Amino acid sequence: MEAKKMKIVGALVAVLLLVVFINVLWVSLGVSKTFFILAGVGVALILGVVVWIVIKYASSSSDDEASTTTTVPKQQPAALEGEDLRLQLQYSFLRKVTGLPTRFRYEALEAATDKFRVLIGRGSSASVFKGVLDCGTPVAVKRVEDSDHSDRVFRSEVAAIGRSQHVNLVHLLGYCIVPRSRVRLLVYEFVDNGSLDAWIFPARGGGGGGGGSRCLPWALRCRAAVDVARALAYLHRDCRSRVLHLDVKPENILLDAGFRALVADFGLSKVMGRDESRVVTTTVRGTRGYLAPEWIVGSGASEKSDVFSYGIVLLEMVGGRRSIRLAPGEGKWSYLPRIAAEKVRQGRVMEMVDERLVGAAEGAEESEARKLVCVALWCIREETKLRPSMAQVVDMLQGRMEVEAPPPEGDMLILDLLNMEYMSSAAAAAGGRAAAGRLRQPDSPTLGASGYFCSTSILSGR
Ligand SMILES: Nc1ncnc2c1ncn2[C@@H]1O[C@H](COP(=O)(O)OP(=O)(O)O)[C@@H](O)[C@H]1O
Ligand SMILES: [Mg+2]
Repeated sequence: MEAKKMKIVGALVAVLLLVVFINVLWVSLGVSKTFFILAGVGVALILGVVVWIVIKYASSSSDDEASTTTTVPKQQPAALEGEDLRLQLQYSFLRKVTGLPTRFRYEALEAATDKFRVLIGRGSSASVFKGVLDCGTPVAVKRVEDSDHSDRVFRSEVAAIGRSQHVNLVHLLGYCIVPRSRVRLLVYEFVDNGSLDAWIFPARGGGGGGGGSRCLPWALRCRAAVDVARALAYLHRDCRSRVLHLDVKPENILLDAGFRALVADFGLSKVMGRDESRVVTTTVRGTRGYLAPEWIVGSGASEKSDVFSYGIVLLEMVGGRRSIRLAPGEGKWSYLPRIAAEKVRQGRVMEMVDERLVGAAEGAEESEARKLVCVALWCIREETKLRPSMAQVVDMLQGRMEVEAPPPEGDMLILDLLNMEYMSSAAAAAGGRAAAGRLRQPDSPTLGASGYFCSTSILSGR
């Protein structure tokens, strides 16, 4: 701005000098042919300078207007110059280093995903596509499906994860909202090895015995268990606002290139005030098999509800199977928490470990397996107060806190009831249309309704 003013003052001085010069010529040459030629050149110069000053003045006043206006200019990178471009670069650099989510243009994401061509995952609320940004960063673009709760899912994710930063949480790079439409997109860092379920449960049709092609080795399972526990401890305790995930399950845990685990999918999460102890709502959502009993019966969720779900996931990681499943060839349902409690009590914990890891070169180690199962059994205690916090789980897994003997039998009353009801109604539904359960299921997810109906629906089979 100062430089511009100096130039205008300089031009005015030049005009003044030219006028003086013409006067001197007139005095010294008189009204002669030479005087007219030189005076003509001088006047032309004066006119040129005046026009330049007018143009400069007009452009500087329109700049001032633009800087005081409150409307956001349309993005026209090619038209940006000098100062503007530098400011915009600084701004996007700051967003990058602070890790704050950026707003993306729909066209940019359409181009990055090649018109949403490569589907890498689908859950109950969204489809996820692989993409590559202009800068070369690989991304996973989550397109929240158009539904009555799509806005709530979108807001929950941005609110919960937008400000949270932890090495074991998936990183939200940005989002996209198309005005006057229901398109909602979330842009995450791409996580190379996909979700944990594909790495711990044998592939369908793989026979169960030989295992699927992808089987996470024991040491990596133990490390992933700690990673997830650390992420949840951070969300519950160390985050500025406490966050309940409320949908902890293998499908929502991702494995990066080095098989570090990252907690993802915050569509059902709740951000809590520091003084709130639990969330009570008439709408209970979650996934069958992972929901804590207190959440199912409608007495509210707390961070201990995440601890419960974590306990179930931990057992599934050790066992390499779903917590509730039809025993192959027996026509009977088996419930992993019940089996785990029995095996630990009998001192035969290795019998419940994923058979693909037993006897393998770098297979499961008995004392470690016992520790994991005991921690899991504490996490799924029916009485919320008896469950450890996620911070204590981290300490137990990392050996800083002793893991006490497993809880006495008879502690799984609600679980047993739910399981019995679940088994009988599932058997009734077998061969026919399943009862209209409205809870997410690990494989064919749907969403939940009120607490009462929720507990009914969880009891009413698949
Ligand atoms: N950042 C990511 N990188 C790689 N795969 C992902 C990523 N995010 C999600 N996925 C895949 O997409 C699936 C569904 O994503 P998720 O966020 O859980 O959606 P929903 O809310 O519908 O359950 C996941 O189980 C996972 O397989
Ligand atoms: Mg999910």
